[in-house]
Amino acid sequence: MEIQRKLLKTHYRKLKGIKSLPLKNVSPEIPIRSDLLSAYYDSKPYHQCLNRYGNSLVDLRPEIIGLSREMNNFPREVINIFRVTGKLAEKYQIEAYVTGGFVRDLLLRRNNKDLDLVITGDLENFIRALADRLGGEWSYNREFHTGNIQLSTGFNLDLAESRREYYPRSGALPEVEPADLLEDLFRRDFTVNTLLLVLKPDGWGRILDFFQGSKDVERGLLRVLHRFSFLDDPTRIIRGIRLAVGLGFAFARETKALLKEALTVADFSILSTSRVLKELRLLFADRVTPGLLRMMQEFPLFKLLNLEIEIKADFFRQFKELEAYLEYFQEKNYNIKVWLLRMAVFLEDIHKQEIEEWGLSALNQRILSSYARNRGILSRLNRELDPVELVKLLKGLTTEEIILLLVKSGKGKIKENLLYHLEELADREIEINGFDLQEMGLKPGPEIKDILQKVYHAKLRGELKNRREELAFAEKLIKRWE
Ligand code: CTP
Repeated sequence: MEIQRKLLKTHYRKLKGIKSLPLKNVSPEIPIRSDLLSAYYDSKPYHQCLNRYGNSLVDLRPEIIGLSREMNNFPREVINIFRVTGKLAEKYQIEAYVTGGFVRDLLLRRNNKDLDLVITGDLENFIRALADRLGGEWSYNREFHTGNIQLSTGFNLDLAESRREYYPRSGALPEVEPADLLEDLFRRDFTVNTLLLVLKPDGWGRILDFFQGSKDVERGLLRVLHRFSFLDDPTRIIRGIRLAVGLGFAFARETKALLKEALTVADFSILSTSRVLKELRLLFADRVTPGLLRMMQEFPLFKLLNLEIEIKADFFRQFKELEAYLEYFQEKNYNIKVWLLRMAVFLEDIHKQEIEEWGLSALNQRILSSYARNRGILSRLNRELDPVELVKLLKGLTTEEIILLLVKSGKGKIKENLLYHLEELADREIEINGFDLQEMGLKPGPEIKDILQKVYHAKLRGELKNRREELAFAEKLIKRWE
């Protein structure tokens, strides 16, 4: 304990302003009044920060966690990144830490290849020297003082100078200024993401924990640091839900109240759709579980896209089936845009015009809005169908669009037809072409197209197995033609 205190002191001396973070706990049960909100967003960066501290939900109670023994078991590549970065920081006489999800996952013993590094000095020269030592592609953003290094081993390093963020309006992109480390931590989303792993040799193997983040990791709790967190950045609502479901964590009582409040009072009209979609893409990269659906019933997150989507009871059945189909088809190497497909299940009533401004590709827009467009086909699929008719009905639909019909349909015959199409017909092609027919003596002209189509139809019906049989069938047709 004594050693810990000493260590903290050594680190603190370097953390300018540590004592001046004027945190004041305020009950989140009292809703944020609109005059308080406008005063907050109209204020200057410094005052906005003070306002956040004055509406803090955490205590500044620093602790050090010793990890050096566990670090012996880390993968060599990770230790190498840590050591090289730490030594370089020592040379540049600055501090360098790993923070965010990587440290959280470290305590949870979960693998993570995305490292967020925060340094307390000039990043531009540092990142160049670091990339030189580690190898890999790197980039630096002069405006935001952030950078990235991609290593060939699959590790991705995001680097930033410690900074404060200032939000001109709720949901607007933050403006960024350099700041000390504590301020940098205080602007973050959840306490579990505010842990700092020291990289420099003199602090090797230690985690600095200012806001009881490690205890929250242990208890499985997501806690925001101040009352304006979800209003400053509403995409944190989606991040929070992703973390809660993915890690099996729960929202702390006050955080839950603030999340609900943000969904009720925040104005999402200026929120960037691409930022929301980026978070949704991450959320729907993983399977949609009943737990996630229940959360979405409680927290209507599509409001961030200005959509009112009811999470219907039948969605539980649809997602159960969808996840089983996805597993089945992915095992068979079908190439499926899973996040879009999962999202399309929710957007069953959405038309293309409603999502045109989202900045997605034409194909992605089509997939997202496909059920409202294609649901009319379902009634025509509810009977025994000749394969040629079936292909005609589903012509031009992507695998995603067909799987969507499959999970929405819920009925036996329709399902049979759709599955037969996906597994047997969608990829069936003929192996002969117009040149083969010309070699048999046919002149270029409409007959060629007609005969190829007849061959294709025969193949769809399973009457032809291979190129030899196709050629023989075409020859018979040509003879009949003559
Ligand atoms: N962050 C934040 N608000 C956001 C996005 C990110 O406060 N809207 C902070 C979080 O503290 C996060 C850090 O920035 O830990 C880095 O962001 P990112 O790399 O996107 O997240 P990870 O830490 O990697 O978390 P995860 O593994 O959950 O994606």
